[in-house]
Amino acid sequence: MKASYTAGPDIHVLPSALPIPGLGDQPVNAFLVRSGQPLLVDTGMPVDREDFLDSLWSLIEPGDLRWVVVTHDDRDHTGALAGILAAAPHAKVLTNALSVTRISEEFSIPQGRVVTANPGSRVKIGDRELSFHRPPTFDSPGTLAVFDHSDGTLYSSDSFGTVVEEISEDFADLSEEEFFHGFDVLNRAIAPWTALVDEAKFLRPVRELAALRPTRLLSAHGPTVREDAVPRLFRAMARIPSLPAWLPGADLDLEAALDTIESPAG
Ligand SMILES: [Fe+2]
Ligand SMILES: [Fe+2]
Repeated sequence: MKASYTAGPDIHVLPSALPIPGLGDQPVNAFLVRSGQPLLVDTGMPVDREDFLDSLWSLIEPGDLRWVVVTHDDRDHTGALAGILAAAPHAKVLTNALSVTRISEEFSIPQGRVVTANPGSRVKIGDRELSFHRPPTFDSPGTLAVFDHSDGTLYSSDSFGTVVEEISEDFADLSEEEFFHGFDVLNRAIAPWTALVDEAKFLRPVRELAALRPTRLLSAHGPTVREDAVPRLFRAMARIPSLPAWLPGADLDLEAALDTIESPAG
């Protein structure tokens, strides 16, 4: 874990990073919104669990946390979820039913603590109105992007993320060339099916999110993107299906592997 920082009025980023050999670091963010009924979006990686809980409880009393939005069931979004629910008696999980089922492969969430939503759902939480959307790229069928109508923030889950040599808190501090190179890699790596899709259909969720005119885009795997920069990410996403599928390098040198087995060093 790294030190938390703010992405907007009372929006706290709990940041970490996943090193990806040969590519750089993938940011891994969760977000705490403290105003109104306090809301956490995602819960970090299992490897960070203890640090994540320390960082979270330094920002809010466990008894004050009311909602945990889990954008999807992947481990980098659910790492501290069980610990948070154990410590925060008033916190409910807001997620998709598919994610609840997939999370239950590892631990179960008491049914009375879950509220489910689908793309297209809207929910009022105190003064805040949230709408749920299917982001254009995703790697779990339960994935939800969340738009907070009270402040114009789009929480886009895995979508619109990047992988870079050195993570910055703000898009404006990164080399754009590096950001968009990592953007093209990550958004295809999590969704290799983008090379197979009908481009017109792929554009629908991009347009749906763009029509919300987010003032701030917060990906779990990217820096804070503000105001005028946001439409540039929508344009970059629109061209993803025109690119070939991205695959990681494979080490398929069987002879070399057998040599190491037959003649171990030392
Ligand atoms: Fe994911
Ligand atoms: Fe993720």
